Amino acid sequence: MKNEVKKRSLPGSAPYPRAPRKRPKIKKLNPSDKDRKKYHKSKRDLEICQRLLDAHPDIALMIEKEGRIIAGNRFLCNGLGCDLSDILNKNIFDFFPEEVAKKRKAAMENALSTGKSLFYRDCNNNRFFEHHITPLRDPQGDITCLAVFTRDITHHAHAEESVKLLSWKLMSTIEEERKKIACDLHDKCGQLVTVVSMGLHSLKEGLPEEMEGTKLLLANCIRLIAELGDKIRTISSGIHPDMIDNLGLAPAIEWYLETYFRNIAGIHYEFKTNCKDKNLGHGIDIALYRIIQESLNNVIRHARARNVLILLEAENRVVRLKIQDDGVGFTLEEALPFKKGEGVGMGLLSMRERAASIGGRLLIQTSPGKGTAVIVTLSVRKEGGDP
Ligand SMILES: Nc1ncnc2c1ncn2[C@@H]1O[C@H](COP(=O)(O)OP(=O)(O)O)[C@@H](O)[C@H]1O
Ligand SMILES: [Mg+2]
Repeated sequence: MKNEVKKRSLPGSAPYPRAPRKRPKIKKLNPSDKDRKKYHKSKRDLEICQRLLDAHPDIALMIEKEGRIIAGNRFLCNGLGCDLSDILNKNIFDFFPEEVAKKRKAAMENALSTGKSLFYRDCNNNRFFEHHITPLRDPQGDITCLAVFTRDITHHAHAEESVKLLSWKLMSTIEEERKKIACDLHDKCGQLVTVVSMGLHSLKEGLPEEMEGTKLLLANCIRLIAELGDKIRTISSGIHPDMIDNLGLAPAIEWYLETYFRNIAGIHYEFKTNCKDKNLGHGIDIALYRIIQESLNNVIRHARARNVLILLEAENRVVRLKIQDDGVGFTLEEALPFKKGEGVGMGLLSMRERAASIGGRLLIQTSPGKGTAVIVTLSVRKEGGDP
């Protein structure tokens, strides 16, 4: 019979009694109005959060401590080329090449260990990114996850590179021009001065004894011509110190301090360096020399300092320059040209440009009453080479 239950029993034994089938009792869930409201509210909250994330103009995501993605916006999906449902719960670091993932993981661990927001830049697949990581805490203050905001700054980075290149080109053109003017002054005018001086000497020697008055006049002219020769040499070295080409940066700084700074009443200076025999590369030499010149000019004009320390160090392909005075100091924000008016305060900006043009970074540490330190750091590819 169709509906008869098949009874299985061992041969020769009594039929096996069938256990009555009992369904486990499932308690019928009957959500209360309160639960239903709560459910709808959290659903609505999630939707609002998602809309907020999607409205953010950059890549935005939330990850757990190991990197599991728990929320993300449409820019994250676009960037990874997947739907949100495909990336949720996946590990964010699985989406990047090993080297990039390593660096980003380290940044995440840094934010987790310090508990502070972190800001850094990196490059992936020829594109440049700026990341901002913020640890998020629960009401007890424990970090539960991280919010990551990532901006594609490739255009910006390329523009920065172009400006740097342009700035370097501009600076080197200016230096080339200066060098040419200094050479012309030194060689052409200097030679003329020597010839004129020699002519006057022989004229004076050829004059008879009785023309004493004319002889005195000529002697005076010869003295003035010699002074003119000295002035031309000083001006020419001021425009472009030929010493920097022949002997390098450290001797040129020593010469500058001796010639110009020594005569400034009341300012004692000390110059310390381990670069006496090192060639830092011409672009670097001249840029650092100009930064020192501008810093010392500022010390003379504004600092009312008693002591200045000039420190130039090169070690492990890192060059560090520091010009420190114990003068009145100043408020940096107040000194920038857009605060002080056009044409004023270009010195600080030009120093920064000079440092950037050789791939360096210029930092100014100062505050009223605390003196001023101008610090430049840069890496060189090889000792004696340009950055
Ligand atoms: N070493 C310093 N000590 C005190 N004040 C300084 C120093 N260097 C710069 N400043 C302040 O910063 C301002 C901007 O300097 P700078 O850009 O070189 O322009 P400028 O020297 O033409 O005023 C100065 O006017 C001065 O107020
Ligand atoms: Mg100045």
